[in-house]
Amino acid sequence: MGLNKIGILTSGGDSPGMNAAIRAVVRTGISYGMKVYGIHRGYQGMIEGDISLMKTTDVSNIIQRGGTILKTARSKEFMTEEGMAKAYASLQLHGIEGLVLIGGDGTFRGAVNFFERYTIPAVGLPGTIDKDLSGTDFTIGFDTAVNTAVEAIDKIRDTAEAHDRLFIVEVMGRDAGYIALNSGVACGAEDILIPETVTDIDDVLNRIDRDERRKKTVHILVVAEGDDFGGSADVAKSVIARFPKLDVRTCVLGHIQRGGSPSYADRVLASRLGYAAVTALRDGNTQVMAGQINGDIVYTPFNKVIKGTTPISPDLLDMIRVLAS
Ligand code: F6P
Repeated sequence: MGLNKIGILTSGGDSPGMNAAIRAVVRTGISYGMKVYGIHRGYQGMIEGDISLMKTTDVSNIIQRGGTILKTARSKEFMTEEGMAKAYASLQLHGIEGLVLIGGDGTFRGAVNFFERYTIPAVGLPGTIDKDLSGTDFTIGFDTAVNTAVEAIDKIRDTAEAHDRLFIVEVMGRDAGYIALNSGVACGAEDILIPETVTDIDDVLNRIDRDERRKKTVHILVVAEGDDFGGSADVAKSVIARFPKLDVRTCVLGHIQRGGSPSYADRVLASRLGYAAVTALRDGNTQVMAGQINGDIVYTPFNKVIKGTTPISPDLLDMIRVLAS
C-alpha cells in the first residue's frame, strides 16, 4: 500500500538549492496523490511538532532563493532517547508515514540513530556546501558556494594586484577541502591548503620565497577553515614571521558562501534528487540517500553515507603547483 502522508525537513547547515529540493519534493509528492507536510527547523521542529501541510503554491517562486523556507537547525535534543521519542510521537500525531530528509553528515547520522529505534520509511538528499558525503558526485549547494568563493577571490586578486600584497583567503570546509581546492584552481591561487593533505608550512613558505625571488608580487593562498595547520590567522602569523617585509592581509569569506541564489547546477541537481527521493519512497526503496554519480541517480543506504571519503587526486595537487608557477 502506498504512502499517503509524507514529511519533509531540512537539517544542519543550510545550502543554496535546498529550496529547489523542497519544491521538487512537495510537487512530486502531491502529483503522486500524497499529502506533504513541512517539518520546520529540522529534527528540532519534529520534536516540537512544528509541522504544517504544504500546498503546491507554498513552493512557488522559491527555486531561485537561497536558505530554506522550512528553516533548519542542529538539534542536540534529537540525539537523546527522549528527543527521538517525542519526534516519533509528533510524526504519529500527524499520521506521517514517510520522510524526506535534506542535509549533510549530521542529518544522516541522526537518521541512522532514529531508524534503529523507530520504523518509518525515509529517503535522504545530500544538502551541504562542503561536498563531504559519499554516495554522490555533488551535494546540493556546493557549486553555488564555490562560485561565490570564486567571485570573492577574483575581487581580492584585483586589490592584491593593486597593492602587491599577499592575501590569505579562508574558505569554508570544516573537514573537507573541496571548496578551497576548486575555488583555488579556478582563481589561479598560488597555493591551496586543505585538510585532506598534511600542510608542511615550511614548504608553503619556501614557495613564497621562490616566487619573491623571481619578483612575483601577488600571492593568493586559499586555506580551508579546517586545514590541519590552522586557519588564515595561523598561516598569516607564519608568513609574517618569515617575511616581515611582505604586505600580508587575511580575508575570511565565512557565511556568504552559504547564502545566495543557487546556481543552475544546484537547481537542476536539487530538482532531480527531490523528484527521485519521492519516487523512491513511493516505490519502497527507502533508508537510502539519493545521489548523482556520473549523471545517474544512485541510492546509498544511510549507514553507508560516510563523511568526506572521496580522495583528492594527486594529479590535481601536482597540477595546482605547475599552474601556479
Ligand atoms: O557544514 C557546512 C559548514 O558551512 C562548514 O563548512 C562550516 O564549518 C560550518 O557549516 C559552519 O556552520 P555554522 O556556522 O552553521 O555552525
